[in-house]
Amino acid sequence: MVRQPMAFFKGELVPLKEANVNITTHAFNYGTAVFEGLRAYWNADHEELYIVQAEPHFARLVRSARILRIDVPFTAGELVSHTVSLLRANAFREDVYIRPLAYKSDAAIKVGLSGIASAFGMFAVPMGDYVPTKGINVAVSSWRRISDNMIPSRAKVSGAYVNAALSSDQAKSDGYDEAIMLGDDGQVSEASSSNLFMVRQGTLITPPITADILEGITRQVVMELAEELGIPQVVRPIDRTELYVADELFLCGTGVQLAGIISVDRRPIADGRTGPITQTIQQVYFDLVRGRSDRHCDFVTPVYEGP
Ligand SMILES: Cc1ncc(COP(=O)(O)O)c(C=O)c1O
Repeated sequence: MVRQPMAFFKGELVPLKEANVNITTHAFNYGTAVFEGLRAYWNADHEELYIVQAEPHFARLVRSARILRIDVPFTAGELVSHTVSLLRANAFREDVYIRPLAYKSDAAIKVGLSGIASAFGMFAVPMGDYVPTKGINVAVSSWRRISDNMIPSRAKVSGAYVNAALSSDQAKSDGYDEAIMLGDDGQVSEASSSNLFMVRQGTLITPPITADILEGITRQVVMELAEELGIPQVVRPIDRTELYVADELFLCGTGVQLAGIISVDRRPIADGRTGPITQTIQQVYFDLVRGRSDRHCDFVTPVYEGP
């Protein structure tokens, strides 16, 4: 028997095909929704599905919602429990992507945020690699990253992803795997759906959270891993041309995971292969998220064993 996909919608588990919104919905008209993207990795040896960094993702969702005056009727901890229930209801035994959304749900023709009801929904779908992790070719986009004073960068706002879609679409139409966006000040911000790290002379460098980036959960994990591995790191602005002379570059995010960059604007990075520091961090990261590391308990939530 084929199991029917389930969603968590308006407080309960329902068949995914019943988790629908009407075209009059405020979020559909104005982009007034915030969302998250989480991954859960299947570990066949453990017969276990591990949700990666569940609590930090839902804490960010609650912060995003706060910025947009969207009410989320659950705490981050409760949302983790609902996610476990959702994944169990779907009986997934493969890698999956989880998409929670909190949105302005009223049928209101009104540009604004206050006095408009909110709702919450979440679904999950099987997902493998989103971009190749073995080495990608990127371009600096002619689309600038929306700045925090236009649409808050640290909130994961649905409407803001038009900016990401334009840059990603341009890069892909031009034959690249991904786009790196500059901020309003002309300095490196991030990619369309991931944060960027650069290695120069053995030091790991990433732009600050004030560079109009999403405050990435994976970015934070990479910084913690680098600390443990004794890799020196600096948070500072990055110029566009530093990308061309970097020793290593990689993107990180829930969707892209850790993807080494082998060229920028058709200029090879170093010898045109994923660099050694990138590979080391990639290895530790993939062991961690798949529950293969001793310390995975701090990073992942098992779905079937129970929290
Ligand atoms: C614009 C943007 N930046 C960065 C990231 C990486 O964030 P995280 O590591 O929390 O998935 C994402 C993905 O969610 C994103 O959409």
